[in-house]
Amino acid sequence: MTDEMTARLGESYRPVIEDNTQLLKTSIETGVRVTGDRELLMQMLVNLMENAIRHCSSGTLISLSLSQGDKAALLTIADNGCGVPSEELPKILRPFYRLEQGRSSVGSGLGLALVDAIARLHGICLDLSDNGPGLKISLAFSNKPNAVLQPQPRYSSDTISVLSARTTSGLRIRKLLQSVAGYLSV
Ligand SMILES: Nc1ncnc2c1ncn2[C@@H]1O[C@H](COP(=O)(O)OP(=O)(O)OP(=O)(O)O)[C@@H](O)[C@H]1O
Ligand SMILES: [Mg+2]
Repeated sequence: MTDEMTARLGESYRPVIEDNTQLLKTSIETGVRVTGDRELLMQMLVNLMENAIRHCSSGTLISLSLSQGDKAALLTIADNGCGVPSEELPKILRPFYRLEQGRSSVGSGLGLALVDAIARLHGICLDLSDNGPGLKISLAFSNKPNAVLQPQPRYSSDTISVLSARTTSGLRIRKLLQSVAGYLSV
């Protein structure tokens, strides 16, 4: 995945964000590349962008940034929305866990569980923190993907599109999570 793909993702979401009367700020360093399954990495970013859009109110500023640190490329998606209480932060990675405050919105509580599984698969250090106010999610790419990633088969593009479909049933997503978990444990 490259800086260009990250920038393209931001620009694809800009109209959606603006239609939702939210703002997008991007800060993407050129020349940054990370290794991994392109479709899974994009799916991870899509899930995080969708969350910022869906779980934050009108007027929220959503920031997408990519930079190269000494040891790792760092990608962050942050917002200044209502945020997540600190004691709930680790829980929102659990499958089907949704905060009381967001239950009225569409969703099954699986987006972040998938983000977590994809991050583990790639050896990405995933950090959730308070953005004072809002939620900040940082992904530190070591550029040494988990060794198990290499010999495993790629997901077919059909499988990936299932992930992004809003109409996806919980059952199909659950099967997919199981396959990601199996993929990790091999
Ligand atoms: N940017 C955010 N701001 C505030 N709360 C958030 C944010 N992102 C996630 N959350 C909280 O974490 C919960 C879990 O997120 P997750 O992406 O796993 O599920 P979802 O968005 O509810 O549904 P799905 O992603 O399966 O459509 C959300 O329901 C919401 O309560
Ligand atoms: Mg979600």
